[in-house]
Amino acid sequence: PPIERPSLPNYDFLIIAHRGASAYTTGHTLAAYEMAVHMGADYIEIDLRMTKDGKLVALHDSVVTLHNAQQAVADVTFDEIQLLFPGKEFDKNHLAYTLPNLEDLRVVDLSEILFHFGDSVNYYIEMKSPEEYPNIEEELLRQLREHHLLNRDDATPKVIIQSFDAPSLKEMFALEPSIPLIQLYKFSKEAKLSKKELRELTKYASGVGVNVEVVNRKFIDSMHRARLLVHPYTVNDEDLMRSLKKFGVNGIFTDRPDVAYRVKNEK
Ligand code: G3P
Ligand code: CA
Repeated sequence: PPIERPSLPNYDFLIIAHRGASAYTTGHTLAAYEMAVHMGADYIEIDLRMTKDGKLVALHDSVVTLHNAQQAVADVTFDEIQLLFPGKEFDKNHLAYTLPNLEDLRVVDLSEILFHFGDSVNYYIEMKSPEEYPNIEEELLRQLREHHLLNRDDATPKVIIQSFDAPSLKEMFALEPSIPLIQLYKFSKEAKLSKKELRELTKYASGVGVNVEVVNRKFIDSMHRARLLVHPYTVNDEDLMRSLKKFGVNGIFTDRPDVAYRVKNEK
């Protein structure tokens, strides 16, 4: 018989802090993740890429500017990436950010994040462009196992893995079927999946992550009928959060976990 897909226990409205509390400080820094935890996030969201020396680095973009040149993350070492100061590099046009000492913030790798937070938080990890990083799945699993984050009895899974890349998620399911997997989509018009696509998806995924602009009630209901969770991204407007909660989405990616916490706890 096919292996059962894991699910989340109570169809909750999960607060997934997109790159940490990234509305308030530089995303993908320990400061951003810390702030998200203090604001009541259920998960910290981490985009992962792999450096030339095999480190899993928390970075959204595939290319960085180093030594005055554009370079692929896959072509530089983690030590070289440490030359970047994310507060300075990424936020210079966003004067709304409030955290002091932005220039001190560092790019971090997964190992440092896992040593820092251990099992005190939940991780919602995106494998970004995994086809560019051979064996990223194995390395990610190795680290999660090393930190005893898998196959536990927590009410909410410690780790969820997401990707736009279906082959990579399928590989992950084959390697470690206990982790809930979220297939990401970016629809240009209406959010819609054919019966054939749904059949394929339910072989490995526990849910879908969908750009919020195209999400409607019909789509949410059709995913639920297929026993798939729905996590729209990226939701920062309070009224929209409220509507989505009413529509029964199972979580939202947000840069503003404090606002989501307020909405989540409204009667
Ligand atoms: O992972 C869901 C959402 O974060 C995808 O968009 O570009 O912010 O990683 P991006
Ligand atoms: Ca992401």
